[in-house]
Amino acid sequence: MVLQAIKYSRGQLEILDQLKLPHAEEYDHIYSSMDAWHAIKEMRTRGAPAIAIVAALALAVELVNMKLSPVAEEVKAFIIEKLDYLVTSRPTAVNLADAAKKLTKAVERATSKEGATGADVREAYVQTAEKMLVDDVSDNENIGKHGAEWVINNTEAGNKGPVSMVTHCNTGSLATAGYGTALGVIRSLHSKGALKHAFCTETRPYNQGSRLTAFELVHDNIPATLITDSMAGCLLRLRGSAENIAAIVVGADRVAANGDTANKIGTYQLAFLARGHGIKFLVAAPRTTIDLDTRSGDDIIIEERPGKEVTLVKGPRHDGVSLDLNVVETVSIAANGIGVWNPAFDVTPHELIDGIITEVGVVEKDSSGEFHLEQVFKSEGLK
Ligand code: MRU
Repeated sequence: MVLQAIKYSRGQLEILDQLKLPHAEEYDHIYSSMDAWHAIKEMRTRGAPAIAIVAALALAVELVNMKLSPVAEEVKAFIIEKLDYLVTSRPTAVNLADAAKKLTKAVERATSKEGATGADVREAYVQTAEKMLVDDVSDNENIGKHGAEWVINNTEAGNKGPVSMVTHCNTGSLATAGYGTALGVIRSLHSKGALKHAFCTETRPYNQGSRLTAFELVHDNIPATLITDSMAGCLLRLRGSAENIAAIVVGADRVAANGDTANKIGTYQLAFLARGHGIKFLVAAPRTTIDLDTRSGDDIIIEERPGKEVTLVKGPRHDGVSLDLNVVETVSIAANGIGVWNPAFDVTPHELIDGIITEVGVVEKDSSGEFHLEQVFKSEGLK
């Protein structure tokens, strides 16, 4: 069975409710942009590429099922208003804003055509949104391929034989239209027979690692071990060479023009650990995550989420012996009354990043330590 976070056919959209994973696989119908906004905000769907695709397709579904104005300008105005609204759902990941820009352009082009009708504008929107779904899967497969080749050819561990990799958060099929970015690199290494072992961090406070990445790794029969976030340093120090750990590979929510990368909270400290232990630190992301308009990480807005995500844990009841999937409980794991700070992302400065893996190749820094990310939009000079 293929893991599918997004099920789409024209006029119909369903998302796998990621709050219920790994214990239940339930799909929610998304009928409108408002449904998508809530699903994204509540993190029933999450991950930078998946957020963008769900938002784009939700509006496509809404447009296909509504009574449409015959006037092109009116349909264009409706679409732009809904896209502006969707972009407010979560601020850090740039993929949704990037998708909204591309969809707006497609709609403007269609509207400006001689004799354009509302139906023409809708068709232009729907086709552009549907293409995003298809492109994301092939982009991820290419990210996986380039990343795996880079790891095999550019790391000491890769030179020795099958490598182990560490990853953080969830960047797999559940965070994208399919296959995944950083997890796609691990999948690709595995399919080449070049993966010894994958280590995934729990990723507190939302546990995307233990709930989602671990679920994907088990699903794909990839040899893997779960660690808590605080064990990463110990893993590299005590087992790094025995496990032949080549790199830590993570995804991204926004890569600024200079390579500074916003990703799930906890990424920054992993980058220091990689540097301290002489292994590579890699960011895997499609070009839709690269934002040349954001100069550096200082300009990225970091989403802060409710404190209860830190103080409360939700899951099916476990009495110490067995799991009861019918009873979902929320338990408090912090002292009552304590203040909480819950930034959802952090920024890793480009100095700590060895390579940015995209669907057109891996970008490395020049001899003065600078990334030139504009080259990925020209597809030249990449490994
Ligand atoms: O808060 P989330 O779960 O949406 O955060 C997800 C991440 O940080 C991922 O690493 C990133 O979006 C890349 S997903 C391919």
